[in-house]
Formats: sequence, C-alpha cells, structure tokens
Amino acid sequence: MRQQLEEIRKNAEAALKAANLLEELDAARVKYLGKKGELTAVLKQMGSLSAEERPIIGQVANEVREYIQNEIDARVAELKAAQQEAQLAFETIDVTLPGEGVEVGHRHPLSIVLDEVKEIFQGMGFDIISGPEVELDYYNFEALNIPKDHPARDTQDTFYITDNILLRTQTSPCQIRAMEERKPPLRVISPGRVYRSDAVDATHSPLFHQIEGLVVDEGITMSDLKGTLDTLAKKLYGPETKTRFRPHHFPFTEPSCEVDVSCFKCGGVGCSMCKGEGWVEILGAGMVHPKVLKNGGIDPEKYSGFAFGLGLERLVMFRFGLDDMRMLYENDVRFLEQF
Ligand code: PHE
Repeated sequence: MRQQLEEIRKNAEAALKAANLLEELDAARVKYLGKKGELTAVLKQMGSLSAEERPIIGQVANEVREYIQNEIDARVAELKAAQQEAQLAFETIDVTLPGEGVEVGHRHPLSIVLDEVKEIFQGMGFDIISGPEVELDYYNFEALNIPKDHPARDTQDTFYITDNILLRTQTSPCQIRAMEERKPPLRVISPGRVYRSDAVDATHSPLFHQIEGLVVDEGITMSDLKGTLDTLAKKLYGPETKTRFRPHHFPFTEPSCEVDVSCFKCGGVGCSMCKGEGWVEILGAGMVHPKVLKNGGIDPEKYSGFAFGLGLERLVMFRFGLDDMRMLYENDVRFLEQF
C-alpha cells in the first residue's frame, strides 16, 4: 500500500509538471485527490490493515495528499502569474507610436447647399415646412390647376401607387397644404424629395430635390417675387450676380416665369459651365393663380401671392462645378470627402 501511495505521488508529480493549463491542473486534482480519485481509492482499503500499520500508512497517505495539494497550488500560482505576464505584455501600449486618425464625417453637398438656402429664407422671415412624398393626385395635380387630361402631366410622369395616390412629381402640392393649414400672411419654403419616371443620366434622376416657396398676403406683386429671388441669387452666388426673368408657363401661376442667374463662374461672358450662355436657369416661379388660391381656401379678391420652385441638384452642381448629378447619389467617399 505504501508502494501504491508512492506510485500515486510520482504519477501526480509528473502529470503536474506536464500541465500547462489551469484546466489540466484541475483535472489532475480530481484524478488524484477527488472523491473518486486514486488516493481515496487507496484509503478505502485501509480497513484491511492491521492496527499497527493503519496509523503509519495513514500518515504516509496524508503526506502524499499534502504534497500533491501543495504542488497543485504552486503550479496554479505559477500559471496564473505567467498568464498575467502575457496579458500585460499583450496590452502594452507604445505611447510613442503615431496615433490612428479618426475619420470625421461631414455633410453631403446637397445638405450643405440646402442649409444655406434655408438660412437665407429664414433671414427673410420664411418658415420651413414639409409635405408627404407619397401624395394624393388632388394635391400634386388637380388643386394646382392640372386636371386629369392636362398635357402638363406628360412632362411629370411619375410612379403611381393607385389611380389617386402617387409619388409627388414636385413640391408644389405643399402650396395647397400650406394654404389649408395656415392663414395669410404666409411665408414658407418646403424642401424635399420629388420623383419622376426619368431614366438616369448626367442631368436626370428618378429622385431629386426641390425647394418650394410660397408667399401670400394682401398686395403681393411680381416685384416682391423679383426682389426675393434676386436676394436669394446674390446671397448664394455673390453680390455681383444678376437675375433674368423669362416668361414661361405653369398651370398654377399666372403670369409665370423662369429665372436665370448670371453665370457665377464667367460673370456672364460665357463659359463651359453655362454652355456659352452667360446665364444658368435655377428655378420656375410666378404669381399664384387665383384658382389655386381658391383651392387653398384663400380669397383671391383679397389676397395675392407668388410661388417658386428651385431645383436643389442644379444649385449644387453649379455651386461646386459638377457636370454629372449621379455623383450626388453614388456615395463614393472619394467624391464626398472633397466638400
Ligand atoms: N413645380 C414646378 C416644377 O416642378 C416649379 C414651380 C414651382 C413653378 C412654383 C412655379 C411655381 O417645374
């Protein structure tokens, strides 16, 4: 029995030396000292010993147990220390290494120019409102004096959800919604996405942005419209900028016009940016049609107003000298980080 105990001690010693993981040490403890372990198995046979032998073997057994336990404790401490050492070495920070730059995001060019436009109009006392992108035919067309069979619908073909619900083709429905919700004096702009079923190319996209403007009050005239839009052009493109108002037609304004600004790049001489024209078109506008005022619940005998619709993509492209609007939607960081 003494020999058995000696054997256990030797085996345990070898096993503990070989163990390199805490789990292995734990397994060794179970194997040799556990309830069903080898040492216990030997002690169970003590009953067969004589009364003289029993205390002697008992003592040896205790010594072996103590020995193995001490060995385990020592090895555990060793492994833990080594682990900590490794962890510390792994986590060492070399404070002399150059830092990793944090990439800071910034605003999209469409947002940059939109924020500028908003600020300019807020400075002139306009409120900023918004309307739904999924719109009723009534607001997008009918209330704007564009009946079902009107040819103006052809140029603004869009995505229909049902016969009466569509993705808005313009922000002009916000004019009617604004008039329904507010009483004159009314001064609002309404920026947002609009949709037309156009094929994608350098100057077309099925999704683009407009900024609608509407002013309604007593005694509003065309000169208010001209003054407001001239102020916008000068604030956006510099005080030297000139504006040109060309007669045009929109069903919801009368009279209507398109507004050009003198090319801010060449100052009106003609260059590649303005295609040799000296002018670039930035918006459509006009005096709100009396029928449209009526549709908005406003008495056209008492009130008059003007409205305009700016194309945000055009403003951005002229502003930053871009020749392809697709770049605004592709989210290529090599393009975006230039602003
Ligand atoms: N909604 C018109 C368009 O998309 C622009 C416009 C707005 C014209 C307001 C006049 C008044 O072309």
